[in-house]
Amino acid sequence: MEMHPLPEGIFLSHVDVPRPVPWREQFGNDNPLHLEIGFGLGEFLVQQAGLPVRENLIGIEQDWSRLCKCLSKVALIRGSSGKADFGRNMRLLRVDATVALERLFLPRSITRVTCLFPCPWPKKAHVKYRLFSRDFLCLLNSRLADHAKVNIVTDWRPYLDWMLEEIPGTGFRSGVETIGARFNTKFERKWRAEGQEQFWELSLIKHEHHHRPVTEDVELRACFVKDFDPGRFQFENIVGETSVIYKDFVFDQKQNLGLVRLVVAEKFLTQHVWVAVIKTKNQWCVAKADGHSALPTAGVALAIEQVAKAAQETTGPGS
Ligand SMILES: C[S@@+](CC[C@H](N)C(=O)[O-])C[C@H]1O[C@@H](n2cnc3c(N)ncnc32)[C@H](O)[C@@H]1O
Repeated sequence: MEMHPLPEGIFLSHVDVPRPVPWREQFGNDNPLHLEIGFGLGEFLVQQAGLPVRENLIGIEQDWSRLCKCLSKVALIRGSSGKADFGRNMRLLRVDATVALERLFLPRSITRVTCLFPCPWPKKAHVKYRLFSRDFLCLLNSRLADHAKVNIVTDWRPYLDWMLEEIPGTGFRSGVETIGARFNTKFERKWRAEGQEQFWELSLIKHEHHHRPVTEDVELRACFVKDFDPGRFQFENIVGETSVIYKDFVFDQKQNLGLVRLVVAEKFLTQHVWVAVIKTKNQWCVAKADGHSALPTAGVALAIEQVAKAAQETTGPGS
């Protein structure tokens, strides 16, 4: 099989971009933004990119392997059809949709949203994981331009009914249509192969604005402790709405440098974070380690403070 290099400039790291993203600079134009949430293998995005429509396409997907498959599709089209700039109006982000909307988009900046076959989470105990909750719809509303349209297609009637219950008070007017297969995405093909021919398309039109400010980055400040004994380092996990869970601690005596690996779990966001404890002239500095990316959130700031507390306790009373 012929290999094609992955296209550059299409994948965007939500951690490394300026937030909110200056989309006009990113695309080099002011065309309307069309967002696809949970694009899977990217069939719909790729179809849209092939249309002669002046739209900037932004795909959000939380699964790495699916995102890579979408990038490979673009590479294949570029390599095999001679359209070297195919997908120039496309950007892909590997991030949870709530985190993306909260941090990467200004209010009233998106003109169209598509979501094909959102995960239905059919078990009662899992309803809390469904995406189009009232709260998410209010957030989505805040990022949409006035009168912008959202299309959500589902294969599962109870999911449609649940969404219809979530809509009141979110600033959307809704309409439902029964449709046949028309997107040729992996999940549409899957349901068709199982004999399903009818799906439901929910259209939402924004008619009233809900304000939700952009979630801003938190300044990650370094902490300082006077003394530190790495041999006595013990970290107390924090478990709650924000959890900070200890994974590893390594210490390099030559450099007087300790590294603590932690998992920081906040609502919709789980990050692996390294916190460094490094000797300076006459004290120890505790800060996020260089060389890895993490969104600067309140959870990461808490992780740094907790490491500083644990470092302090290695020589303090009771150690
Ligand atoms: C059932 S699949 C449908 C994929 C694709 N749209 C299709 O029709 O084949 C749902 C997709 O949404 C993604 N997804 C689910 N929740 C998400 C979230 N909160 N943010 C981003 N992507 C999400 C999943 O990783 C998965 O790829």
